[in-house]
This record gives sequence, structure tokens and C-alpha cells, in this order.
Amino acid sequence: MERLLIQHIGLLATPEGDSARRGEEQGTVRFLKNAWVLCEDGKIAAVGQGEAPEAARVLDAQGKLVTPGLVDAHTHLIFGGWRQNELGLKLHGVTYLEILARGGGILSTVRATRAATEDELCDKARAALDEMLRLGVTTVEAKSGYGLDLETELRQLRAIRRLNEEHPVDLAATFLGAHAVPEEYKQDREGYIQFLCDKVIPEVAAEGLAEFCDVFCETGVFSAEESRRILEAGKKHGLVPKIHADEIDPIGGSQLTETVGAISAEHLIVCPPEGIAAMARAGTVACCLPATSFYLGSTFAPVREMISASVPVALASDFNPGSCPSLNLQFVMNLGCLKYRMTPEEVLTAVTLNAAAAINRAGRIGSIEEGKQADLVIWDAPDLDYVCYRLGSNLVSRVVKAGKLCF
Ligand code: NIG
Ligand code: FE
Repeated sequence: MERLLIQHIGLLATPEGDSARRGEEQGTVRFLKNAWVLCEDGKIAAVGQGEAPEAARVLDAQGKLVTPGLVDAHTHLIFGGWRQNELGLKLHGVTYLEILARGGGILSTVRATRAATEDELCDKARAALDEMLRLGVTTVEAKSGYGLDLETELRQLRAIRRLNEEHPVDLAATFLGAHAVPEEYKQDREGYIQFLCDKVIPEVAAEGLAEFCDVFCETGVFSAEESRRILEAGKKHGLVPKIHADEIDPIGGSQLTETVGAISAEHLIVCPPEGIAAMARAGTVACCLPATSFYLGSTFAPVREMISASVPVALASDFNPGSCPSLNLQFVMNLGCLKYRMTPEEVLTAVTLNAAAAINRAGRIGSIEEGKQADLVIWDAPDLDYVCYRLGSNLVSRVVKAGKLCF
């Protein structure tokens, strides 16, 4: 049996439970002073205060803050190239959807991704995962969606599967073939939707390459009705629905969560009150992405209204080469406080337990409790407020993943 004792924890902070926390519970966090955590065979065996049990291997937290490992529940991790050329366009006032309509944006990343081998995609994503782990992230959701043809979508998802096996960070795979209509189907969007539903989704499911199916429900991309059809096709093959909803225009994406029973809805920057009510009824996790609002120069999702309406809120990076070329979840935590007016406790729940719930893993990760996987961060910080207050530095001291010290 492999045992690791983390002792001399100045302050342990964790949400509790094995499902998403909503309303007031989102801000209810357990604080334990002078604590210890005993890990056995990759799991948390015991949590206590004061006198610690004996263990052969001991990690001294030196009085610092310890939280669960962070969970990034929304990333577009696998892509070829970057899009620094779009910065100048943005500065000249060209909008995100205009760039896409001109064949740039997502479609230019599609060209670069189709040209990349699986090895090249893995190498690039591995470097990003290394950086995420150093920033305290121990589980990452990763989407396809830069292939938009059968071969490249499968290549992206196989890269995710390979990295999940190779890298200490755990990955959850989402099929996002409905990220844009590819250029070869520009005159035949119906043909592309049928191709996704009848050909690609069955192949993805047959190879067991994804757990979730996502769509970009947006003006000029996929309508709410088209999104519904694609998500229903995914459900028939066991893929759990997620929706990029209300990022730029509110065209019904957040209401669709209730119709299809989505596990999460993403972005929600311009989410209307009907969308909030639908998510509350459906128990959908609102996965909000404040670094994308920041980067697009748009407004910020109505998170206080969501919390008041008992919608569980998760925060994620949305790491991608266009609307958010940052994978820094600590910056996202800062923005959660400063832009969404969330408390540090609400933010901690949003990047741990609620993020785990958004990827169907709240029973396994997201809190420091007996039986959960031993994913923990030791911070160069005395308390949780400090982590949310400092800006622009990496405050992570050590990361323990599945009971093993990564650095
Ligand atoms: O979540 N909105 C759609 N997808 C990504 C952006 C992808 C891109 O610009 O490459 C997002 O913001
Ligand atoms: Fe996204």
C-alpha cells in the first residue's frame, strides 16, 4: 500500500459533497486549521486536525493553504497553430463573428489542425498540460472541434485519449464536431449536420472516444433547433450534452439545456432570465468563462443572478487559440471575484466540486474528503482570500495528483 501523509497544513479549504453545490451552498466551504491529509493508493484515506498518524512518506505543507486540485471543465486543448494575426484585426474593430464569417477564426485553426499529425497535436497539448499542472490544475476537459471532418475529429479525440494515459493530469473528452460549418459544406449546412449525426457521432461512440457532445449554438454557427438535433443524436449514442450558449447572441442555447437535459451550459455571457430559469429546473451547471469575456472585451455573465436562482456555477478557462489564448485558472479565479462579484468561497467551489460536476466526476474528485481521489494543491498562500486577491503570479507551491507528488 502506498501512503503519503501531508501534514502541517495551516488551513485546509474544501467544498463538501459529491454533487454540484448551488445557491448559498456554493459559498459554503469547510475550513480546517492545523490539518493533515492521509493518502492511500491514490485516494484520500483520512482528513484530520492536530496530531497526525504515522506514515513512511511525509510531505510538510509548512503551514500553508491546501485545497482540492483545480478542475478546468472547459478547454479546446487540442489544436494546430495559433492566431496572433487576429490581434491586429481586433484592434481595428473587426469582431469575432466577422473574422469567422471571412473564413478566419475557428476555420483557420481547422486548416492548421488538419495539417498536424497526432504526434504534433499531442506534443503541443502536452506542453499546455504541463503548464496547467504547475498552475494547480489536476483534471481537464478537452474538446475536439478543429477537425470538422471524420479523420481529424477522430485524430483530436485519439490525442486526448493518449494524453490521458500518458500525463498525470486526467482528461475528459468532449466531441465538438458542431463547432462551425466547415468550408467544404458552406453551401450545404444541412448536409454537414446529417454527416455529424449519421457518420461522425456513431464512429466517435463506437471507438469510445468521448463522454460528452457539445455544440456552438450561436448566430451564423448552429441555431437552437440544429443544436438540439445534434445533441439528441449524441444522446442516442450515449454522449452527454453540453452547449456553448449565449456567448455572443442569446438565440435559445440556455433554454435548450432543459429540452435536452444538458449537464452543463458554457459561456452564458448574455444569458436571459428564461435561460437561467431553464438551467435551474434542469439542474444544469453554468460553466462560465470570464477570461473569454475579458479577452473578447465583452460583458460578463450574470453569475450573481444564477447563484440567486440556485443554478450551480463552475468557472473554467476556455483555453483556445482564438477567444481565450490563456490556460491560467488562477486568473479565472481573480476574474470570478472582480467581475462576477463571487466570494472566494464561491469561486473555490466553482473551480473544484462544481467543475467536477460539469464533467460528471463530482463523486470522484473536487473535494478533500475520504474516498475521493487524492488530488491536492499546496499554495504559497496563508488563506483562500490571498489566492483570489493576488494577481498575475503563480501561487502554487506543490501539487499532489492521485496521491503522488508531481513537483
Ligand atoms: O468557446 N465559441 C466557440 N468556441 C471557442 C472559441 C474557439 C476559437 O475561437 O477557436 C470558445 O470561445
Ligand atoms: Fe469554448
